[in-house]
Amino acid sequence: MDTIMDNRISPYAATNILLALITRLIAPASTILLLAYIAYYGFLSPLSGIPGPFIARFTRLWLAYHGWKGDFHIVLTEVHEKYGTTVRVGPDEVLTLSPDAIKKIYGAGSLFNKSDFYAPLKGTRTWDLFAEGDSIVHRNNRRSVNHVYATSSLIDLEPYVDSAIQHFVSILRTKEGKSFDFDVIGEVTFSQRFGLMETGEESESLKIIKRAARSGSWVGHIPWVYRIHQRLSPLIGNHLALNARSGAIRDFTLQQAQSRIKRGSDHRDMLSKLIELHGQNPAEVDNTVVISMATSNVFAGSDTTAVALRSIFYHLLKNLGCLKKLLNEINDVVGDIDIDKPVTYEQANKMPYLQAVMNEANRIHPVVAQSLPRIVPEGGLQVEGHSLPAGTIIGSSPYVLGRSEHIYGQDAKMFRPERWLEGDRSQLLSGFLAFGGTSRMCLGKNLVWIEVSKVVPTILRNFVINFADTDVEWKLQS
Ligand SMILES: *[C@@H]1O[C@H](CO)[C@@H](O)[C@H](O)[C@H]1NC(C)=O
Repeated sequence: MDTIMDNRISPYAATNILLALITRLIAPASTILLLAYIAYYGFLSPLSGIPGPFIARFTRLWLAYHGWKGDFHIVLTEVHEKYGTTVRVGPDEVLTLSPDAIKKIYGAGSLFNKSDFYAPLKGTRTWDLFAEGDSIVHRNNRRSVNHVYATSSLIDLEPYVDSAIQHFVSILRTKEGKSFDFDVIGEVTFSQRFGLMETGEESESLKIIKRAARSGSWVGHIPWVYRIHQRLSPLIGNHLALNARSGAIRDFTLQQAQSRIKRGSDHRDMLSKLIELHGQNPAEVDNTVVISMATSNVFAGSDTTAVALRSIFYHLLKNLGCLKKLLNEINDVVGDIDIDKPVTYEQANKMPYLQAVMNEANRIHPVVAQSLPRIVPEGGLQVEGHSLPAGTIIGSSPYVLGRSEHIYGQDAKMFRPERWLEGDRSQLLSGFLAFGGTSRMCLGKNLVWIEVSKVVPTILRNFVINFADTDVEWKLQS
C-alpha cells in the first residue's frame, strides 16, 4: 500500500510540472508573441513612420479612453500641434488635415467605406444611411429617399417650421423654453410637436439620444466590446444606450408614426412624403426604410441642431461687433414691422452675413470633434508622403480641421464670419466637415439650414439676448 502511494505522483508534483510547462513553453511563447506584436506595431508596420502618441501605436484603448472621457477636441488639437498634420492614433488608424487627402477620402464620388466605428451605431438595422459601411449600398439607398430631404421639397414644410418658431417665441416670452429643435423635428416629421417647449425639460427620448451618442463615441473604437455585450445582454442586461437607435428611439418613432397615421393630417409632413415614396416603389422603400428614416429624423435632427444654435448664439454674444452687424442686416432686409412673423427662408437667403455667421459657427464648433473614420480601399492612399496600405483606417476631426491654420490662416481659431464673404469659397470649404464630406453629406443638412436660418433672425428681432453670466466660458464635451 505504502509503495503504491509512493509511486504515484502527488497532486503537488503534478501542479509543479504543469507550472513548469507553462513557464517553460507557454510563457516564452506569449512573451515572443508580445514582443512580435510590439515590434510590428511599434516599428515594422507600414504606418510606423507616421508620428503620434506612442501608446496609441499599440492599442485602440487610447482612442476608446478619450471617446469615453469626451475630450477629443482638446486631445486631437494637441496631437496635431505636437506631431503634425498627419498623425497615427491607433495600431491601424491615421488622422490627417491634408486638404488633398480630405478630398480623396470624403469628396464627391468617394468609395472609401465607413469603418467598423459605425457598426455599433448601425446595430441590427438593415437600412441605415448614416452608419452603413458600404459606400455603394449607401449611394443606392440614398438615391431612393434623397428627394424628401432636398430643399425644394423641404420648403413645403416651411409653414410648420413657422408654427414651431412662433410657438417657441411665445414661450420664450413667458419662460425659458429649451427644446425647440426636438419639437420642430416632431412638427415637420409627424405634424405634431412633442410638447417639449411647454415643459422646458429634456424628454426621455432626448436623454436617450445623448446617452447613445456618448456610448457610441467610445465603444465605436473597440467594436468587439459592443459585439460581446450584444451576445451577453440576455444575461447581463443592456448597458449601452447605443442600442436606442434600433430600440427605444425606434419604438418612440413607431408610436409617433402610428398615432400620426391614426390622427390623419392635412400637412404633407415628412412622414407622408416617405409613405408616398413607399407607395410608388414598395420594393425599394419598404416599411423598414420609412421607419428608419423617420427614426433618423428624430435621432439626428434634434441634439445636433441644438449644438448649432448654441454655437451661433454663444459666438455672437462673445463677439458683439458681429452681433451688431447681423442685427443691422436683419433690419435692412425685414425692417421692424411684423416682428412676430417668423423670418422667411427667402428673406434669410438675402442675408449673406447671417449665412456667414452660420458657416462660421459650424466651422469653429462643428457637432463632431472626433474623426469620421473611413477605410482605405484597394490600391492604398498616399498622404503627405506616407503610403497607407488598403485596410488602413483614415479620417479627420471636423473640429481640428475647421480650426486648421494651414487652411484658415493665422486667425483660424477666431470667430470671424467675414472670412466667408471675403475668402475663396472652395478653399474655405476644403476644411469644412461640419456636415461630413460631399460623398456622405448629412442628409438633414438642408433641413437644419432652413430651421436655423429662420430661427436665428426671428429670435434676434424679438429679444435682446445676453449671457446670464458674462465671465463664464462654455464647457465643451465631445
Ligand atoms: C466596401 O465594403 C463592401 C462590403 O463589405 C465591400 O464589398 C467593398 O469591396 C468595400 N469597398 C471598398 C472600396 O473597399
